Amino acid sequence: MLLHLKNVLTSEELRQARALLDAAEWVDGSATAGTQALQSKNNQQLPQGSEASRALQALILRALDRHALFFSAALPKKIFNPLFNRYGGEANFYGKHVDNAVMYSRSNGQRVRSDVSCTVFLAEPHEYDGGELVIDDTYGSREVKLPAGDAVLYPSTSVHGVAPVTRGHRLASFFWVESMVRSDEQRRLLFDLDMNLMRLREREGETPEAVGLTGTYHNLLRMWADT
Ligand code: NI
Repeated sequence: MLLHLKNVLTSEELRQARALLDAAEWVDGSATAGTQALQSKNNQQLPQGSEASRALQALILRALDRHALFFSAALPKKIFNPLFNRYGGEANFYGKHVDNAVMYSRSNGQRVRSDVSCTVFLAEPHEYDGGELVIDDTYGSREVKLPAGDAVLYPSTSVHGVAPVTRGHRLASFFWVESMVRSDEQRRLLFDLDMNLMRLREREGETPEAVGLTGTYHNLLRMWADT
């Protein structure tokens, strides 16, 4: 499932994030690529342990924490500490690749199985040309380029890449989620049920049917979740 999350960051958070990113020291992004990914990775990243990185991570994690749609879609068990990248100039693309199944963070020793990938866009689409996140899924290739502050979730099993940036700079945060529900198909069913229940409640209020189906949602989650 590929899902667009709107307004993950407020405009004030976006302003803070941009100030931190503009003042930060960037390094070659190949430091965090797997061997297969390394051959095609050409971007810049913030060093993981840096002060700017820590402030930005806290900002992103706080924003995710209050985003109900993120929770419903990803059902997070663990979130990898968000990373930050920049594409532009000579370091302007990331060829098609698959991310490692298990991500290890050198800055805090955290190990996260990558079930769901997330990119939070931190530059507006008019600030750069190219830079689409290209994701191959069962329906073909999808190109994603979102307003600053919005995010996309997609299965970490997907082949994906970032198209060359030919003008300006593309700034983003990216990270992986280990989900309580490992299967993309099961997460999708739970998400659909949750969204439809929400709409049903908005329209009909708390009916016995809504209560019954909420029970079904939680019983499926109980059957599939691993905490
Ligand atoms: Ni990747």
